[in-house]
Amino acid sequence: MAVLSVRNLKVRYSGKGPEILKGIDFDVEGDDFLAIIGPSGAGKSTLIRCVNRLVEPTDGTITLLDQDVRALKPRALRELRRDVGMIFQEFNLINRMSVMDNVLSGRLGYTGNLRSLFRHFTKDDIRQALDFLERVGLSDHVDKRADELSGGQRQRVGIARALMQQPKLLLLDEPTSALDPKISQEVMALIREIAKELRVPALCNIHDVQLAKEFCNRIIGLQDGIKKFDGETRTLRDADLEDIYAMEVL
Ligand SMILES: Nc1ncnc2c1ncn2[C@@H]1O[C@H](COP(=O)(O)OP(=O)(O)O)[C@@H](O)[C@H]1O
Ligand SMILES: [Mg+2]
Repeated sequence: MAVLSVRNLKVRYSGKGPEILKGIDFDVEGDDFLAIIGPSGAGKSTLIRCVNRLVEPTDGTITLLDQDVRALKPRALRELRRDVGMIFQEFNLINRMSVMDNVLSGRLGYTGNLRSLFRHFTKDDIRQALDFLERVGLSDHVDKRADELSGGQRQRVGIARALMQQPKLLLLDEPTSALDPKISQEVMALIREIAKELRVPALCNIHDVQLAKEFCNRIIGLQDGIKKFDGETRTLRDADLEDIYAMEVL
């Protein structure tokens, strides 16, 4: 059984607005590190945000961990969101807080009033946070403010924070597009290693085709809300890329 199954997914942001996703189908299996590539504006962020209903689809079905995502009531949706770790392009850290507190906030998902809940963290939470900070190579930075770190280090905090949720699926929206090429490689390698160790599948928007080819086992190509390619990375041909990126070339 697929961890995530998406069928005929359609999105409009407003009734009369354009259709942004035009009937997308795909599955994510347990050991997938799946890249979604495509030009800017193709609908990659929209697609990923539908999975945990940060965007409400207008049609189609999303089955995540055996649950019909579109049918979930608010409480069940909160619980489902806790199972989905999200890693963002701009890191979305709270700059004034320490690295440790940013990581601990992962325990709360990404809704709710973070700061007022901090005193409720258990010793286990703190031990777990320290373990993940060590895993991402930030043991020496635990007490620093988030805004004292470099971009690559900030994204490592973002990764540790997502892991605190004990996620069953990782969603990554352009996790390296704010980073330079060498750091991007390191961050992608780290995410792939950890996803493998923890056996968490990942769905990763990425506009850098080379990174997708290097790190992801499967690739979906989106163009203007339509799926143009879906297959194992090694089967992606130059002609497929021309098809996916045609609008940019013209
Ligand atoms: N909140 C929104 N309201 C209205 N239109 C949006 C919103 N978010 C994205 N869009 C539009 O949807 C299209 C796809 O955007 P997006 O999913 O961000 O693409 P990508 O991540 O591939 O660059 C774009 O035309 C964008 O302007
Ligand atoms: Mg995007």
